[in-house]
Amino acid sequence: LGTGGVGQTLATKIVGVGHEVCMGARDASNEKAAEWASANGAGHGTFADAAGFGEAIVNATAGTASLEALEAAGAERLAGKVVIDVANPLDFSGGMPPRLSVCNDDSLAEQIQRAFPDARVVKALNTMTASLMVDPGLVPGEHTVFVAGDDDAAKQEVWELLKSFGWPDGSMLDLGGIQAARGMEMYLPLWLSMFGAAGTPVLNVAVHVAES
Ligand SMILES: NC(=O)c1ccc[n+]([C@@H]2O[C@H](COP(=O)([O-])OP(=O)(O)OC[C@H]3O[C@@H](n4cnc5c(N)ncnc54)[C@H](OP(=O)(O)O)[C@@H]3O)[C@@H](O)[C@H]2O)c1
Repeated sequence: LGTGGVGQTLATKIVGVGHEVCMGARDASNEKAAEWASANGAGHGTFADAAGFGEAIVNATAGTASLEALEAAGAERLAGKVVIDVANPLDFSGGMPPRLSVCNDDSLAEQIQRAFPDARVVKALNTMTASLMVDPGLVPGEHTVFVAGDDDAAKQEVWELLKSFGWPDGSMLDLGGIQAARGMEMYLPLWLSMFGAAGTPVLNVAVHVAES
């Protein structure tokens, strides 16, 4: 679900590793989705079409609109499925830097899990730029991809997908239940500062744990 840079980058990689994709938008005739689909031998349609098609769903919609987009996808089409939530609740309405539209004692991922209790929501990949999500080798050395979610089997499925993208063993840090998405989303102000300092969005952090 999502026709922006993230939706297109992930969808292209997911096709590339051998899956079928239907890209969802508000409008079935969305031009970006139609163009992407024809270039990649894939499908496109409404959010509901894509959610009905997918065995797993990626939420790559604007964070402030994700609940609306998932509502359009339809609870019954999300039920029982892994929903990989890569969105960030960034509100640009007051200019730069954006503010978080939800934070501290709640998160977008928790809002999604509460709104769609039968979906298996996994927060992942929101802490890095789109190109790096699907090509971890763009940054040298070991670096970390965080995941959070209440369903361990769903997190394992997401990890299998990430491995197929090229994420090496040991690079995933499972932060626990979906509540941990708060920190993953509240990391965005730090990420934006690092982007400014580094002069490129192609960066990531690495978590190294002391041997006890
Ligand atoms: N840019 C990055 O590298 C990066 C990295 C990590 C996470 N993220 C997060 O990934 C998500 C996608 O980012 P993006 O830059 O690819 O795209 P985006 O411009 O943030 O979002 C585009 C998608 O949001 C949908 N949308 C916008 N307003 C909507 C509304 N009122 N109701 C329903 N759907 C609506 C659009 O639908 P239509 O297709 O119908 O127009 C489109 O599919 C965001 O949450 C972003 O914060 C981005």
